[in-house]
Amino acid sequence: MPAKVVVVGSLNMDLVTRAPRLPRGGETLIGESFATVSGGKGANQAVAAARLGAQVSMVGCVGSDAYGKELREALLAEQIDCQAVSVVDGSSGVALIVVDDNSQNAIVIVAGANGALTPAVIGCFDPVLQAADVIICQLEVPDASVGHALARGRALGKTVILNPAPASRPLPVDWYANIDYLIPNESEASALSGLPVDSRQSAQAAANRLVEMGAGKVIVTLGADGALFADGARVEHFPAPSVKAVDTTAAGDTFVGGFAAALASGKSEADAIRFGQVAAALSVTCAGAQPSIPTLSDVQAFKTP
Ligand code: RIB
Repeated sequence: MPAKVVVVGSLNMDLVTRAPRLPRGGETLIGESFATVSGGKGANQAVAAARLGAQVSMVGCVGSDAYGKELREALLAEQIDCQAVSVVDGSSGVALIVVDDNSQNAIVIVAGANGALTPAVIGCFDPVLQAADVIICQLEVPDASVGHALARGRALGKTVILNPAPASRPLPVDWYANIDYLIPNESEASALSGLPVDSRQSAQAAANRLVEMGAGKVIVTLGADGALFADGARVEHFPAPSVKAVDTTAAGDTFVGGFAAALASGKSEADAIRFGQVAAALSVTCAGAQPSIPTLSDVQAFKTP
């Protein structure tokens, strides 16, 4: 039986434009292309875990609009269990994304139906959480719901992962004791720890601070510089595979989903990190969120160029 990963989080329709560079305040730029692509950090992580070998259930909300139908169907096409994806009146979540010629992006999200994922709604699907080996949360749904899912995951004895994205402020302090793996990027690690993070050394200081605050283990993703692991007893840097980036959208999500799938399948922590890194590296070589996420055979076939 494949390991079971449950993702509690967001589904967004990504409205993606490519432009030579990101616009400045007040500026209008001529874009090069436009596409609507299924995304949302929660759904992306669910797709990553499913393509990378796990049996996945999604807990979330979509709107009663055409985007909601498309977002749900995109997950069903990946054999993701959507019994806990509720359809609520109104608009689905959307993300406005600009990707520039250096493969960097800027994203504005509007929660829409993601805001309807309350603790009570999650409570209706408690058997889905009970069946999990690993539970993953992010921060694109209401804080109360994230807090509920983390606490329930801990009470059920599951492995609990929080990808604190997007984060611009500290987390509620009582969440930390319920987190086995906290996986922020550099800016999120800085927002959570209150420390500047702009190098491997400063990432290490922030990761250690987050462990002191109560997170079990911390993995700070550093983009092309790899990832930094800390658990209070040891710190380890994992270099990233080198690839030519086209679009970094959902690279972090691919790492989180791949890490979770690998960990749930019994890989060691270090091997699960390396597996997630290869998956994330492959994702940045293709455009879009879910379309860029590789399969297990893509990762197994990967050779460092
Ligand atoms: O992490 C990438 C995702 O962030 C996009 O798919 C977009 O929907 C936003 O949630």
